[in-house]
Amino acid sequence: MTTSKGGQRIAVYAGTFDPITNGHRDIVERAITVFDRVYMAVAESSAKNPLFSADERKTMITAALADLGDRVIVDSFNTLLVDYVRSVGAKVIIRGLRAVSDYEYEAQMAMINRHLAEEIETVFLMTSDHCSFINSSIVRQVAKFGGDVSALVPKNVAEVLRRKFS
Ligand code: COA
Repeated sequence: MTTSKGGQRIAVYAGTFDPITNGHRDIVERAITVFDRVYMAVAESSAKNPLFSADERKTMITAALADLGDRVIVDSFNTLLVDYVRSVGAKVIIRGLRAVSDYEYEAQMAMINRHLAEEIETVFLMTSDHCSFINSSIVRQVAKFGGDVSALVPKNVAEVLRRKFS
């Protein structure tokens, strides 16, 4: 059921990624142990009014995940997520779960996506303990006030944040 184009298992990990954190990277690392190809799909016009443009977010993700190889593809989308998932020939949406508090929002999103596209499955991967408190808003806030984010985000992202707020 989760097999797509040419028998490959293709999954889409979508988000605002404003910016990508070590928590997101942890999920991608887990995803490539299960799927042949993982699309990191940046939501271009997220309702969150992102700090970084879609191109900036893509550039940061590309550098942050370069060592994971060409099975990770960085892209962006400006449509319904399920339409994007279909457009790349995938059958799976990956979501990361950090704590019980994520469940309600994630369950709602999984159900609406199933309502829109019965053939697409949402697969949840559990974040590592040490990433469970990270989100992008916290990272932006700490960086804005000059705090140390080096343990929360990939090295290149910490550098971009330092420059942005210096
Ligand atoms: N580690 C660290 N942080 C994580 C995380 C993890 N494993 N998993 C989630 N987060 C954080 C994110 O950084 C984000 O934090 P923020 O609120 O501070 O920015 C938050 O948890 C949840 O964000 P994320 O998982 O990136 O999802 P999102 O809500 O930003 O994006 C979309 C959701 C873009 C996937 C969704 O809105 C979408 O599909 N949009 C397209 C339109 C559509 O199809 N709508 C109908 C379906 S809902």
